[in-house]
Amino acid sequence: MNILHISASPRGADSLSRKLGGMCVDRLKLETGNELCRRDLAFDSPPFPDASFAEASLLPPSERTPAHELCLQESEVLIGELAAATTVVIDMPVHNFTVPAVFKAWVDGVVRPGRTFAHTDQGKEGLLADRPTTVIVASGGSLGADLGGQPDFLTPYVRQIFKTIGIVDVAFIYLQNSLRNGDASGEPSAIELLNHRVDAIVASLSS
Ligand SMILES: Cc1cc2nc3c(=O)[nH]c(=O)nc-3n(C[C@H](O)[C@H](O)[C@H](O)COP(=O)(O)O)c2cc1C
Repeated sequence: MNILHISASPRGADSLSRKLGGMCVDRLKLETGNELCRRDLAFDSPPFPDASFAEASLLPPSERTPAHELCLQESEVLIGELAAATTVVIDMPVHNFTVPAVFKAWVDGVVRPGRTFAHTDQGKEGLLADRPTTVIVASGGSLGADLGGQPDFLTPYVRQIFKTIGIVDVAFIYLQNSLRNGDASGEPSAIELLNHRVDAIVASLSS
């Protein structure tokens, strides 16, 4: 039983998303007794896909050489961590309206044809089991163009990525306006929402 905790802010201890992610994981560990699997993308970034990875990832296992398998090794580690997780917590900042590049590199390692999704007549079908996934997002400004903020390309993208591999129980917690209000980590609504989310996860994991 594992909690997978993924962080993507480059700002280490100063990061607001990391602070809230840490709070969330501390509660989950305490209340579920689950082990923690840590994946810090900012300080141990996954490789960007290169030509050999692109070739290897499209081949069925029976046609792969040992060299192909080697190219997929890192991706297999990332997928293994996700597949073993009972719940996933991701904390990250918005970078230029969307996910940080290191998170995109994680996505490229994890979303693989024939491994985490299958092509069907109905489109892509996820091959992983669903599990509660919580995404904590810090942004300097406010998000949501319809609310007078900036366009939010992060939320629909992350939702679609997880849906593609079979994970639809995804909740977002936002820490907005960090560059305008100073320390948004104390934003009561975000902490309240996060606590409700943790309550729900703990209840679902213990039922
Ligand atoms: C490269 C870069 C791009 C950013 N792009 C945006 C952006 O598009 N919209 C926004 O609201 N904030 C943007 N920010 C600000 C961060 O999202 C904000 O400072 C956030 O609180 C950082 O999260 P952290 O405290 O967890 O590090 C950007 C910051 C950096 C470094």
